[in-house]
Amino acid sequence: MSFGLVVPIILLALTWSESVRGQSSPQESFMVQYFERRMTHLEERLNQCEANAASMTQRFYDLTSEFRGQLSALTAVKSEVRTQLESMSSRVDRVEGELEYLENKIPAPQNIEIDETLLEQQVMDAELEQLKKKAKLKLNNDCSTALSAVKSLKIVKKVGDTHGSWFHDPTPGSSKVYFLSGLRNNTVLEYASVKSFTEGSTSPKVVKLPSHWQGTGHVVYKGFLYYHKADTPNQIVKVRLPNGTHADTMLLPGAGRLPAYSLNPNTYLDMAVDELGLWIIHADPEYAGNLVITKLDPDSLALEHTWDTLCRSRGAEGAFLICGTLYVVYNTRYGGRSSVQCLYDIHDTIHSEESPVLFFPKRYTSHTSLYYHPQDKQLYAWDDGYQTIYKVETQRKEDQVSFGTE
Ligand SMILES: *[C@@H]1O[C@H](CO)[C@@H](O)[C@H](O)[C@H]1NC(C)=O
Ligand SMILES: *[C@@H]1O[C@H](CO)[C@@H](O)[C@H](O)[C@H]1NC(C)=O
Repeated sequence: MSFGLVVPIILLALTWSESVRGQSSPQESFMVQYFERRMTHLEERLNQCEANAASMTQRFYDLTSEFRGQLSALTAVKSEVRTQLESMSSRVDRVEGELEYLENKIPAPQNIEIDETLLEQQVMDAELEQLKKKAKLKLNNDCSTALSAVKSLKIVKKVGDTHGSWFHDPTPGSSKVYFLSGLRNNTVLEYASVKSFTEGSTSPKVVKLPSHWQGTGHVVYKGFLYYHKADTPNQIVKVRLPNGTHADTMLLPGAGRLPAYSLNPNTYLDMAVDELGLWIIHADPEYAGNLVITKLDPDSLALEHTWDTLCRSRGAEGAFLICGTLYVVYNTRYGGRSSVQCLYDIHDTIHSEESPVLFFPKRYTSHTSLYYHPQDKQLYAWDDGYQTIYKVETQRKEDQVSFGTE
């Protein structure tokens, strides 16, 4: 509805009805009444329209404000959604970043395999260690002898050179005695027994060797003589004893540059036999001149294992092994009193620092060779040209070591 059109019509109608009222006639007054009724009707309609418009405006206004309210709410929701979306997106980004980081962090499959092999290796090492420990325990149970004292001394004979070696054949059941006089020779004398050697009633068997030996470190083990071949730094010769023929030869790595014991300067390789087998003792200049012990496979002459000991060669005159423990005997240059002052246990059950110094029976001289015999529990010594025997006392390794001194 347009107000602009309605208002001029009403004004026109009013003006016209006033002008005609002056000369009123029944027809005219009827017309006037008609117009007036029409006018009133129109006015009513106009008022209605106005009221409608007002209500419409009000409603429009209400609607608009409602809409505006909703719109602002919507905007708020929208911005909230946007914020949430943004935070969501940044969270997604973060998660992606974290995933990437984790992917980089997590090792590639081949790395995992390497780790597994490492792990396997470690497990195997641990198992091996266990087995070794078991073997060690078994070994200890089988061979648990430890030296506790060097007891009585017996002088058996005085024959041959001031330097030399003599010993009872360590082969179980054998009573044979071997005699190697001097620091260099190619002749070995074999006696039937200690008694036969002492009495000299029967002449010994003379075994001629294919080469000369050197020093005082020779041993007999299961029918073979092992000796340091003269004029070689580190060659060991294995000879069949019945007929003195050459059986085998080997070189001991790292040996031959230092005498095994500083008080016996002609012996570079000292061999020994104990309950566990065949050993070589030498001093290594690259190991501060300390003694190194090597276990030798008697059949193949392969090195089974080498142990670096903390025992000095300086001031030492000899050494022997009992059940895998090296006992090093020290003395003075002038022949004082021999004593065991250092030991090295390959099983690590007895320690030098826990063991008191173990003195040999009083006899103011020096040894050029010392041989332990596992069955006899005796030491066969060459003492300034005398052939002597020491009885030793042993005890189980497990027991607390308590040495006697005399
Ligand atoms: C070698 O040893 C034998 C037997 O002991 C001995 O008769 C001989 O004189 C020694 N030879 C040397 C050069 O010492
Ligand atoms: C020496 O003894 C070994 C084993 O007993 C034998 O095989 C070898 O033929 C012997 N050699 C000589 C020259 O008698």
